[in-house]
Amino acid sequence: MEIQGLKGKAAELAQNLNPEKLPVHVAIIMDGNGRWAQKRGLPRVKGHEKGARTLRKVVELAAKIGIKYLTAFAFSKENWSRPQEEIDFLMNLLRRYLKNEVPTLIKNHIKLLVAGDVEELPEDIQLKIREAEEATKEGTRLNLILAVNYGGRAEIIRAARGMAEEGEFSPEAFRRHLYLPHVPDPDLLIRTSGEQRVSNFLLWQIAYTELYFSPVLWPDFSEKEFIKALIDYQGRERRFGRI
Ligand code: IPE
Ligand code: IPE
Ligand code: MG
Repeated sequence: MEIQGLKGKAAELAQNLNPEKLPVHVAIIMDGNGRWAQKRGLPRVKGHEKGARTLRKVVELAAKIGIKYLTAFAFSKENWSRPQEEIDFLMNLLRRYLKNEVPTLIKNHIKLLVAGDVEELPEDIQLKIREAEEATKEGTRLNLILAVNYGGRAEIIRAARGMAEEGEFSPEAFRRHLYLPHVPDPDLLIRTSGEQRVSNFLLWQIAYTELYFSPVLWPDFSEKEFIKALIDYQGRERRFGRI
């Protein structure tokens, strides 16, 4: 397919994309920022900075391609056990992202949503999240979901508790108590940096998700790499237990 504004190798590769077979929801574990920086003799946080720019590019491309949901794992519950300095940097990066990105999101008709235990985040960030969600709520082109202070097991416990309170036990009832009940399950999960694990991301939702592992470190993950993942996905046969 033709993608507006795309040039070079990425545009060439995009010719192999079938617009009829796009994933509706792509989830990404953006991993490898620290290693990217360390390889260059830089402090780890420089990798996070570059990683945020990569996310911007991938979001823009996903919107142009016509993907409807993009979930990006930005900060896990387990990431609180990192050095305080790195946590502070990541929180500041999130502050900056929420402040600076909103006009672009609005312009590109992108709706921002956050999944995770938001109430455990610093109060000013909670406020910025609410403001960004409110400001972008009319966006219909792409739903950008940031997973922040997110853990799959915590989400499962939350949903189990909700179900118990409701007194109905079924997959449908469970789903009603997820952070974002109306978001369809991911069709494709991409993890960068060569690690082949799920790291407590979307445990319930990935039951039938296609997994794609890229050796590329997240800050280097390019438009070309994203398109490569989509083409790989389009070559898969999804059976959902049928024959
Ligand atoms: C991913 O990169 C970003 C977050 C987890 C916040 P890492 O910081 O995990 O980078 P590596 O895996 O140590 O290289
Ligand atoms: C997963 O990456 C979390 C995010 C990308 C936010 P990690 O780097 O925290 O995961 P592990 O520790 O390698 O499993
Ligand atoms: Mg990592």
